Amino acid sequence: MATAGKRIGLHSFLMRPELSQYNHVSAGKVREIYEIDDDTLLMVVSDRISAYDHILDPEIPDKGRVLTAMSMYFFDHIDFPNHLAGDIDDMRIPEEVLGRAIVCKKLKMLPFECVVRGYLTGSGYKEYLATGSVCGIPLPEGLVESSKLPEPIFTPATKADLGDHDENVTFEQVVEKLGERRATELRDASINIYKQAAELAEAKGIILADTKFEFGVDRDGTLVLADEVLTPDSSRYWPLEGYEPGKVQPSFDKQYVRNWLTSSKCDWQVDSNATPPPLPGSVVEATRERYVEAFERITGEKFSRWIGCCV
Ligand SMILES: Nc1ncnc2c1ncn2[C@@H]1O[C@H](COP(=O)(O)OP(=O)(O)OP(=O)(O)O)[C@@H](O)[C@H]1O
Ligand SMILES: [Mg+2]
Repeated sequence: MATAGKRIGLHSFLMRPELSQYNHVSAGKVREIYEIDDDTLLMVVSDRISAYDHILDPEIPDKGRVLTAMSMYFFDHIDFPNHLAGDIDDMRIPEEVLGRAIVCKKLKMLPFECVVRGYLTGSGYKEYLATGSVCGIPLPEGLVESSKLPEPIFTPATKADLGDHDENVTFEQVVEKLGERRATELRDASINIYKQAAELAEAKGIILADTKFEFGVDRDGTLVLADEVLTPDSSRYWPLEGYEPGKVQPSFDKQYVRNWLTSSKCDWQVDSNATPPPLPGSVVEATRERYVEAFERITGEKFSRWIGCCV
């Protein structure tokens, strides 16, 4: 059975540690990382939302739980070594972050965002219009916004610091950094996992247009799938019904919030250095609903079953 929706056993609840027992080692835009011991980390997913490289205010209630539930669903369904340090029932997760944290193996992370695109949109489409290729991969002529690609392509990017944009790189640049063998393994793994996920999503009537993975290497040198996987923050999902190349598709990602930020209702310029204005309550609530809907439609699981483990 899928992990999402499982109840956490009473035995592990009785032994739950406090968050303050763990060393806080880093804060990402969305995740807080604590060290449990030399080999394991506690990764806590906050309710923070980022868009256009800014962390927005206020947070989106339940977002951390949705992202955690969704990653757990895919870790459970994807056939590839992942960074989970055991079954969720046995994870030493403090009560205050139950449902939005995982215990994972501490890995040496590889410095690339492993993007796979099955469809042409966003920055990939812009690059195609300008050059006819994406990340050095030549594509057939005549593709339009949202076209399905003949084959999914690996379009890696370097991981930027907070406030900077990720930068697309060619496969050759990955080879230069990691060597031919590891770079090829990374590309093949990314495409393989994308194909598995796209098939799962399609069975639910959803297109996985593109997604981003992060990988690390364990002590034995094994390539391991890490970070979050296949969430609306790391992926573009479109409804299959009504899909039509040549136009921008409605998506289950942060597009709703981005649209609000760029609308005339919001007095803010994307390329300015100014902090975006606070999201109104109605936008926060509608964004929360979209995250929950994305989880339920893509996984076919009920979100209430997931939060059932936390009360
Ligand atoms: N198993 C792991 N071992 C070590 N580090 C990990 C592991 N899994 C993920 N990470 C790292 O943990 C961090 C997660 O933080 P987070 O995603 O919030 O930050 P970010 O990537 O800077 O922000 P964003 O995802 O919004 O771009 C990332 O730097 C990621 O590379
Ligand atoms: Mg991240």
